[in-house]
Amino acid sequence: MGNATLAAWRSDHARFGGLLARLRPELDVLHEGGRPDYEGMAAIVAELREYGDKVHHPLEDAAFALLARRRPDFALRLARLQQEHRVIARAGGTLLEQIEEVLNGAIVPREEVEVALATYLVYYGNHIAREEEDVLPLAEEALTPGDWAEVAHAAQV
Ligand SMILES: [Fe+2]
Ligand SMILES: [Fe+2]
Repeated sequence: MGNATLAAWRSDHARFGGLLARLRPELDVLHEGGRPDYEGMAAIVAELREYGDKVHHPLEDAAFALLARRRPDFALRLARLQQEHRVIARAGGTLLEQIEEVLNGAIVPREEVEVALATYLVYYGNHIAREEEDVLPLAEEALTPGDWAEVAHAAQV
């Protein structure tokens, strides 16, 4: 079970990374003063929010809470990652609102969208990297089959 969840997380991360990579050229367009593909950007951010914020992150939160009990020496680092889930959700929401405002014809300063997008890309990218490098290997080592069953159960409620 543990391995199945970890494998799912790793493939989620790869997919999230791919979605973030598709946003990056839009940042370059914004920076160069062109009109990015706002519709495409909105679809990507909405997808990240729909699955990442509602499914992937709550599942990690459940696992990280169990992991912090097994490995109190990592508790602070795990708490920070859980906090980052909330920041990512908020930042993605703000970014999506700004994009939707542009699509609805509102005047949104270009720099505002540019800064929101750049921040989202860096912050989310670092978050995924930290999980891949530090936390997933630790979870693999320290969580018991019972813990993983609890995580799977958390996913269903
Ligand atoms: Fe995460
Ligand atoms: Fe993650």
